[in-house]
Amino acid sequence: MTHRILILGGTTEARQLAGKLAGRADCSATLSLAGRTESPVAQGVPVRSGGFGGADGLAAYLRETGTDLLIDATHPYAAQISANAAQAARVARVPILALRRPGWEPVEGDRWTLVDKVGDAVQALGPTPRRVFLALGRQEVAAFEAAPRHHYLVRSVDPVEPALAVPDASYLLARGPFREAEERALLQEHRIDVVVSKNSGGEATYGKIAAARALGIDVVMVRRPALPDVPSAETVEALAAMVDHFVRPVDERGV
Ligand SMILES: NC(=O)c1ccc[n+]([C@@H]2O[C@H](COP(=O)([O-])OP(=O)(O)OC[C@H]3O[C@@H](n4cnc5c(N)ncnc54)[C@H](OP(=O)(O)O)[C@@H]3O)[C@@H](O)[C@H]2O)c1
Repeated sequence: MTHRILILGGTTEARQLAGKLAGRADCSATLSLAGRTESPVAQGVPVRSGGFGGADGLAAYLRETGTDLLIDATHPYAAQISANAAQAARVARVPILALRRPGWEPVEGDRWTLVDKVGDAVQALGPTPRRVFLALGRQEVAAFEAAPRHHYLVRSVDPVEPALAVPDASYLLARGPFREAEERALLQEHRIDVVVSKNSGGEATYGKIAAARALGIDVVMVRRPALPDVPSAETVEALAAMVDHFVRPVDERGV
């Protein structure tokens, strides 16, 4: 029997999981992307793109496609789609698993200021002009127009368009992973004195946090949003094992 699996993605882990499931004859996985990134990386399984129309729309999609398992492997800050996924799974009576990448914890030498939302990060920069590295999604950086006194270095996957309505901003287009040594060079080259970051967790974007620590630079860290409590794993490997459990009957696994 082939199990239909819908992976809600937009993350490196979702792509890795799709790659793992792509080779399995007993699974037919589809990866769903929000459709925000202009040229997403190839995924190895069929991709659908764009919103479903809320939790009801997702529930209808699960029913129409005969999906057997829903996997929420979205970014930890994509709280809306995770809430929708949990609700749609309940409504459509489809089992759900989530990949919940653990957040970073501050260590000795880190100079973090914790804030709840990106808007609060703008305030946390304070009244004195600073040189700020914004490693945030392009939809979020607009909030910093409220503090035009700072210099901003903005790094994003897609261009920030329109550009920020501030007198002093520069832009970098890049897709991670980013290594600590390169991040350190970047922070030094641009004489950055504060980094604004989400607590994404994982290795791929930790380089800037480690680099900030090494250079004694402040980090304004936006706390994670609350996510629904569903069965979850912290790594792609652990989640793949949960999928295996779901897909293969007990006698086949020999347990
Ligand atoms: N937020 C971040 O920091 C961040 C960072 C890296 C990657 N991403 C990825 O970018 C995407 C959008 O993030 P977001 O923060 O804008 O999400 P969000 O606020 O939680 O979701 C907003 C809406 O976008 C649609 N959507 C989101 N993810 C989707 C998916 N994988 N497939 C189909 N529709 C999706 C849904 O529309 P409908 O209600 O119409 O279904 C959802 O209600 C996510 O896939 C996420 O994994 C986000």
